[in-house]
Amino acid sequence: MLTSRQPFVRPFLLSILVVSTVTSKLLHLFQHAGSIPTALLALYFPTFFIQEVLLSAATWFLLQKSTSLRSIVGLILVPATASLTFCLCSSQLGFYFVTGSEIRWDAVTSVGNDAEGRKLMLSGLKSFLGSAAILLIMSWIFTRVCSAVFDPWLSALFSTQPTEDMHEESMLDNPKAATRRKRPVRLWTILGVIGTLGLWIIRPKVPYSHMSGAIPFTFLEALVASPAEAHQSGDNAFPLPELISEGHWKAPDGRFKGWSPKFDMGTTTSPDWASGKLPPGFERWSQKNKHVVGPNTIKANGTEQNATTIKNYYNPVNDPLRITNLDQKLLEPLTLALKDRDVPITHVVLVMMESTRKDVFPFKSGSHLHREILNSYKSLDSDLLQQLSANLSHLTPISEILTGESGGFPKTKRDAESSLWEDTAAAGMGGLNVNGVLTGGSLSFKSEIVNHCGVWPLPVDWMDEIKSDIYQPCIMQVLDLFNQFKESSTTESSRDLRDRKWTSIFMQAVTGVFADQNILNDQMGFKKTVYREDIGQKGAKHYHDDIEEINYFGYSEREVYPYMEDAIDDAIKNNERLFLSHFTSTTHHPWALPKGVQSEQYFSDESLIGKHEDMNSYLNSVRYVDTWLGDMLSLLDKKGIANETLVVLVGDHGQAFQEDSPVTGCYENGHISNFRVPLVFRHPLLPKIQITANTTSISIIPTILDLLVQTKSLNEKDSGIALDLMNEYEGQSLIRPYKATDDGRQAWNFGIISAGGEMLSVGSAAVPYRLILPLTQGFEFVFSNIETDPDEVNLLRGWSVDDLVSRVRSVHGDKAGQWVAEAEKVGKWWAGETKRLYNHAE
Ligand SMILES: *[C@@H]1O[C@H](CO)[C@@H](O)[C@H](O)[C@H]1NC(C)=O
Ligand SMILES: *[C@@H]1O[C@H](CO)[C@@H](O)[C@H](O)[C@H]1NC(C)=O
Ligand SMILES: *[C@@H]1O[C@H](CO)[C@@H](O)[C@H](O)[C@H]1NC(C)=O
Ligand SMILES: *[C@@H]1O[C@H](CO)[C@@H](O)[C@H](O)[C@H]1NC(C)=O
Ligand SMILES: *[C@@H]1O[C@H](CO)[C@@H](O)[C@H](O)[C@H]1NC(C)=O
Repeated sequence: MLTSRQPFVRPFLLSILVVSTVTSKLLHLFQHAGSIPTALLALYFPTFFIQEVLLSAATWFLLQKSTSLRSIVGLILVPATASLTFCLCSSQLGFYFVTGSEIRWDAVTSVGNDAEGRKLMLSGLKSFLGSAAILLIMSWIFTRVCSAVFDPWLSALFSTQPTEDMHEESMLDNPKAATRRKRPVRLWTILGVIGTLGLWIIRPKVPYSHMSGAIPFTFLEALVASPAEAHQSGDNAFPLPELISEGHWKAPDGRFKGWSPKFDMGTTTSPDWASGKLPPGFERWSQKNKHVVGPNTIKANGTEQNATTIKNYYNPVNDPLRITNLDQKLLEPLTLALKDRDVPITHVVLVMMESTRKDVFPFKSGSHLHREILNSYKSLDSDLLQQLSANLSHLTPISEILTGESGGFPKTKRDAESSLWEDTAAAGMGGLNVNGVLTGGSLSFKSEIVNHCGVWPLPVDWMDEIKSDIYQPCIMQVLDLFNQFKESSTTESSRDLRDRKWTSIFMQAVTGVFADQNILNDQMGFKKTVYREDIGQKGAKHYHDDIEEINYFGYSEREVYPYMEDAIDDAIKNNERLFLSHFTSTTHHPWALPKGVQSEQYFSDESLIGKHEDMNSYLNSVRYVDTWLGDMLSLLDKKGIANETLVVLVGDHGQAFQEDSPVTGCYENGHISNFRVPLVFRHPLLPKIQITANTTSISIIPTILDLLVQTKSLNEKDSGIALDLMNEYEGQSLIRPYKATDDGRQAWNFGIISAGGEMLSVGSAAVPYRLILPLTQGFEFVFSNIETDPDEVNLLRGWSVDDLVSRVRSVHGDKAGQWVAEAEKVGKWWAGETKRLYNHAE
């Protein structure tokens, strides 16, 4: 009970509430201060605290001893509100200390609903508890201050007599003096209220309304609010109509289906392979759907149909953004190499590398990260520098081989390295290394969809893709289609690799149930999967008692090695072709290494704690995975299939650290370090080719298909299907010259920013600009010029697109400003169009 025998409890409760709400608001303002002119921030400053003042006043009022009803209400409401506010503010602070960014309550509730997601949240427990302790201490310190401010002020406002609770001094005063003091208090309060209200009225809604909410209210709002976006109507006209007008249309030509985005009825011509029963993923070619085409029409067979019963399908003919480069010749070195000899691709291994940034694949001398390491040393004599360079030269030796890019450090020998994989490819061979690639999504599983299905992800939070239609066939489903036309694999006739059946398998050493990844993998068409849940069981084939969890998601990649070996053995034994997809995991937060793996120190001693700790751990995990990749490649050598296996390596997304940006991590962070990823198409019998294509991972699937066809690794029928399908995907093939523009149109690039529905990265191969486009309220528009600022140190921000355009114009010129205006329109159009293609139900 709150009685006067505990004189400290009431003021302390008030203080907790005041300190929590004000701290939360100050942090919020601090995080947005950069995007608002200081003068305006100062002018509107009082209006940001309206809710906090009202809440505190109400709390003070309820805490007064008075009629029993008010006491009872206060007794229930105040402790509940104060503790909720306290917890929310602690989470907000904790989240800020870990990631540097702002917590979104709506997203928290959806992560909290997922068991693996809760583990992720628990990893931030330390900083939550730390923040809570700080808040408690501050509340304790401010208890007297709060009372000293609120008691005289509010008792002067609300009551004509001084209450029992008032300060001792005022009790000693005579009542007349007290009344005299009330007048100016009331006068000033009224003036303050009028002034603040006036400012509140003239202040623009965006962004200031977003900046004014007090935590308990913003939290409750997020709990009850449905997704803030407007429902996407069927009418989403392309914003740059002059670029797609009739004069630009292209006639069909061979496998090319033509391009004439006219948004009305048309028919997809059904290719001959689409006559039978088709595997999942091929709905749009099946007989009963074959008349449904055209983005905006819901007509089938000439009659109006019920919109709810008709599905939307992708149609390359009608896609205003689609640019194909299949009319271009193969890259010259490839043409030459394929003329001389057969380069079979019997098997395909796709390695999706967790949080692998391009600048650690390989790690390079002179890079931004290298400079950060050097700067961490107060003094660096030539001996130490030599030692450091020697250490760094051993960071990513396998990546150097795979990409053909040198790290630029002098090579030194190390004993441990005698066991490292050695390249079996002849000099000058090894396949394609692609520079300039960004991920299509900075949430791992959204990226997984891009990498396996050649589609853009859904611009919606978390994995709603599993409740929607992935609008292209995924590669596993394409291989299934190939299988349909084949005899059983074990017959004599299937000696030729082209007549063998495919089998697809997915392997990772970490959990498969986080964010429903297992459901997604089934939906994408994997026939077999291996997750932590499988290999961690006591009865599992390669279970061993000392199997070691290295992070909250599972084991080290090495645990899947024997399963990979089995998969390869089985494929060889059964005369099958293997599509093996592997997702690495050690490079995920918290970047822990298995026991017994030596952690190295790259940053200087004194700088390590706090400042560079995470990046140092990350680099160690990168080194560990680099070695692991070598082991995988050794396995291919050992099994004798290296010369007939295409290994595709791609980062799922990057990872921003303190060294890169004030906001760390991928979550709601558009920074370029979250987006640049390596992409390699490794084959020991293909020439080593360095290419630059400012594209995204959406190019992977069309490129794999193109490679299968061009290396004659498919029979005639399958080649026909693959050629047809290459003309259906949006991405360009990377074994042909990449088209940055086509007839005035740019090759636009999109990247979903984790968790998916709040912001979008919009770029174009034609210009070095990037726009971070908010898809919901409460985020800023951000612009960068990668050419002049490759590490995105100086970003331009604005709360509205006009605001940003005028800033960009003044700094980067009219053309850049014009581009931002177009990018905003195209990005918004794309978001609506993509939801439509996924048949996503809001
Ligand atoms: C299409 O139209 C024809 C003739 O108008 C009709 O016989 C046929 O059943 C229709 N098909 C569908 C799928 O509605
Ligand atoms: C369309 O769907 C609604 C609801 O399912 C149904 O009541 C209506 O009869 C349908 N109309 C047509 C033309 O099929
Ligand atoms: C290089 O690595 C060795 C072995 O891990 C370590 O002892 C040494 O301190 C490192 N030197 C520098 C300059 O980082
Ligand atoms: C793979 O090809 C290379 C280069 O042609 C050759 O030296 C090597 O023996 C081949 N490996 C196998 C296992 O056939
Ligand atoms: C890719 O973008 C970079 C930076 O904007 C630019 O320097 C380069 O020329 C572009 N490359 C291609 C092939 O378009």
